[in-house]
Amino acid sequence: AFAAGQVTISIDAGKPGPVINKNVYGQFAEHLGTGIYEGMYVGLKSNIPNTRGWRNDVVGALKELHVPLVRWPGGCFADTYHWRDGVGPQDKRPGNVHANGAIEEINAVGTHEFFDLIDMLGADAYVNGNVGTGSVQEMSDWVEYMTSDGGSPLARLRAQNGHEKPFKVAYFGIGNELWGCGGNMKPDYYANLYSNYENFLRAPEKSRPKMIASGGNGFDTAWTDVLSKELKGRTVGISVHQYTIPGSSWEVKGKDLGFKEDEWMSTLANTLKMDQLVKNHVAVLDKHDPEKKIGLMVDEWGTWYDEAGARSALFQQNSLRDALVAALSFHIFHEHAERVPMTTIAQMVNVLQAMILTDKEKMVLTPTYYTFQMYVPFQDARSLPLAIKDNTSYTLGATTIPGVSASAARAKDGKVYLALVNTDPSKAVDVAVNVAGTMVKGAAGKVLTSATMDAHNTFQNPQVIKPAAFSARAAGGKLAIKVPAKAVMVVALEE
Ligand code: AHR
Repeated sequence: AFAAGQVTISIDAGKPGPVINKNVYGQFAEHLGTGIYEGMYVGLKSNIPNTRGWRNDVVGALKELHVPLVRWPGGCFADTYHWRDGVGPQDKRPGNVHANGAIEEINAVGTHEFFDLIDMLGADAYVNGNVGTGSVQEMSDWVEYMTSDGGSPLARLRAQNGHEKPFKVAYFGIGNELWGCGGNMKPDYYANLYSNYENFLRAPEKSRPKMIASGGNGFDTAWTDVLSKELKGRTVGISVHQYTIPGSSWEVKGKDLGFKEDEWMSTLANTLKMDQLVKNHVAVLDKHDPEKKIGLMVDEWGTWYDEAGARSALFQQNSLRDALVAALSFHIFHEHAERVPMTTIAQMVNVLQAMILTDKEKMVLTPTYYTFQMYVPFQDARSLPLAIKDNTSYTLGATTIPGVSASAARAKDGKVYLALVNTDPSKAVDVAVNVAGTMVKGAAGKVLTSATMDAHNTFQNPQVIKPAAFSARAAGGKLAIKVPAKAVMVVALEE
C-alpha cells in the first residue's frame, strides 16, 4: 500500500477497453497562410532541399510522428476549391483568390501533389469536398477521378496527368462548416444536400471512401441530432469543430506567448471542456445510432490565439502550454475511443496549433510536435481502464482543475504505456503507479517540461524545449513517479 493522500494510479490491464484508433492522431493541412506553400511545398526549383517540391526537412520530421491521416484541402478553403484548377501541367494551372485567402492560390499543389505527400508520409487521405460553391457533378467527378480503376474518361485523364492507378481515398468529407463559411445553412437543409451529394459519389465498391458528414460547431448538438437521424447508413462519421481559446470571447482570445498564469489556467480549463462536449454529442448519437456505426470526428481542434496571422494567415507561436493542451485532449479522446475514431488537429504546419513552424529555409519543431511524438505508442493501442485515487487539484482564483491527468494503453509492442500530465505550473507531484495483478519493476520514457509556462522554440533558438529521457525503478515492490510541474510524460512500464 502507498501512503495515504498519495496520488495513486491503478491500471487494470486485465480489462482492456476499445482500441484507440490511430486516426485520433490525424492532422489537418489547409491551403491557408503558409500551411502548404513555404511550410511544406516549395516547388521543384527551390533552393530548399525537396522531393518533387515537398520540403525534405518537414516531411522527414512529420514521418517521425507516424502521421496516420491528413485532412486536405480545407477547412473553409475547401468550400471554394475547384479540383480541376489543381490537375494537369502545373504551369497551365490558373491562379485564384479564395474567400478566406487574401493571397492568391497558385494551385501548384493539387490532387496529385497531395497524394504524393500522403505516399511519402505513409498516411491515409481524408479529402474534403466543396458543397459551398461546388456542385454535385463537380464532386462526383472528383471522386471518380481519384478512385476509378479504369474504363472511365476521368480515370484516363488521371492517367494522362501522371497517375495510372487510382488514388486511395480513405475518407471523403461532404462539405465543411455548413453552419458558417460553408454556406450558412440549417442542419435539415444540409441533410438533404448531403443525401443528394452522397448519392452521386461514384467509386468502385472495394475502394469507396468512407463518407463524412460535416457537423456542428462546438457544443451545438443540433447538427449531430439531425444528421445522425437522417443519414443512417450513409455516413461513417459526423464532424465537430472545437477550438480552445484562453479568453471568454473570440474578440479577445488571449496571447500565444507572454501570458500570465490566469491564461495558463483558463486555457487548460477550456481544453478540458472537450470531455463534456464529446459526451453531449455522444448522448445524441446513442439515441439515434445505438449500433455505434457513426463516429464523432473531431476534425478541427487546438488552440487559437490573438496573434494568429501575425506572420501569415493564422500563424501563431506554440509553447509548453500547447503541449499540455494536446496531451489533455488525447486523454479525453482515448476515454471516448469507442465513439471518436478520428480527430485532425488544426493544423499541421504554420497554422494555429502547428507541429512545425517554418521561416524560409528554417524549421522548428514545436512543443505540440513533441507531444504527438511521445504519444505515438497510443496509435492503435488498446485502452486500459485506470483510476486515480487522491488526485491533487490545481486552483487559481475561482477555477479548480485536476492536478494529474492520466491515460494508459497496451500498445502494439505489447507494453503498457502510461501518459501523465501535471497541470500545476509550480508544484511537482509524486504519483504511485500499480497495474492490477502485475509487479511493475520500473518505467522509462520521455518528459516534456520547462522553467516557463510559455517556453517555446524559435528560429534563432530551436532547441529551447524538447523532451528529456525519464526513468524510475520500483522500490520495495512500489513504483513512484515524480512528475515535474507543468509537464507531459509518457512512459512504458516494465512488467
Ligand atoms: O482551421 C482554420 C479554419 O477554422 C478552417 O478553415 C475552418 O473550417 C475553421 O473555421
